[in-house]
Amino acid sequence: MEEIVLNDGVVIPSVGFGVFRVPSDGSTYRAVREALDAGYRHIDTAMVYYNEEEVGKALHDSGIPREEIFLTSKLWITHFGYERGKLGIERSLRKLGVDYIDLYLIHQPYGDVVGAWRALEEGKAAGRLRSIGVSNFTINLWNRYVTQFDTLPSVNQIECHPLSQQKKLRAFLAERGVAVECWGPLGQGNPELLNHELLLGLAKKYGKDVGQIILRFELGEGLIVLPKSVHSERIRSNLEVFDFDLTSEETEAIRAIDRGVPKRDPETSGIREYLLEKYPIED
Ligand SMILES: NC(=O)c1ccc[n+]([C@@H]2O[C@H](COP(=O)([O-])OP(=O)(O)OC[C@H]3O[C@@H](n4cnc5c(N)ncnc54)[C@H](OP(=O)(O)O)[C@@H]3O)[C@@H](O)[C@H]2O)c1
Repeated sequence: MEEIVLNDGVVIPSVGFGVFRVPSDGSTYRAVREALDAGYRHIDTAMVYYNEEEVGKALHDSGIPREEIFLTSKLWITHFGYERGKLGIERSLRKLGVDYIDLYLIHQPYGDVVGAWRALEEGKAAGRLRSIGVSNFTINLWNRYVTQFDTLPSVNQIECHPLSQQKKLRAFLAERGVAVECWGPLGQGNPELLNHELLLGLAKKYGKDVGQIILRFELGEGLIVLPKSVHSERIRSNLEVFDFDLTSEETEAIRAIDRGVPKRDPETSGIREYLLEKYPIED
């Protein structure tokens, strides 16, 4: 497994297993156990995926030593602000059943982000969070909030895949030494991406599937990827991306299919209200 060293010295495996929209009805437990059996050592969950408990149980039951697994979770907007942030961190630790979380993120850039970040900084100083970062921060939102932080985030987890490569934002983050994590690295199953002629051709050439071509491209770009699947075959195949390389011409060709526009623009007005209504967390 390839690894990346974050700006705070923490080492993160470049492929993580995502569990967004995997229900807490035993499915998350099963998927995470399968992912760990397949060799993933990096799991990406969030308070608002409502499945931290099953993730934690799967890690525990796997018998794999805690320090061999890189675990990410995220503070939801219901728990922003300094005091609520501290409660949110404790809640994640409790639900996951762990003493520490490897990477903890500000999930969305809305509300009292600065207060929440202070809670994360304190969690890091106390050794409860090894590394802290943000998610869904555009350049504007970065300039609004991060300029008020004492500590530089180690990562920005953003929507990123060949149809939305976020080149400007990635260059901005690279200048600051901030790693990029791709959410939706497979375009969230978008058939336009998965049936793209260029990618289908490359899949045929390398005897791989389109998912593997996409992930290989993203890894080659220095990105951290978090593919999600609930299907055993794809859980395994999404990790089998280290035994081939794309040529520089092929990489350039994939760079050229970028449309420049993400599906979700974090600067759209009213998102906070929409998210609070759609994804409540009471306690
Ligand atoms: N920070 C944020 O705001 C944010 C937002 C979204 C996601 N995330 C994180 O990023 C992770 C990944 O994003 P995502 O789950 O939204 O989307 P994704 O990983 O890009 O795509 C997942 C979809 O693609 C399908 N799929 C998986 N492997 C495939 C393959 N090899 N070929 C074809 N289809 C494949 C999956 O179906 P099956 O399950 O049926 O295989 C699922 O429908 C999440 O799970 C979460 O951890 C973070």
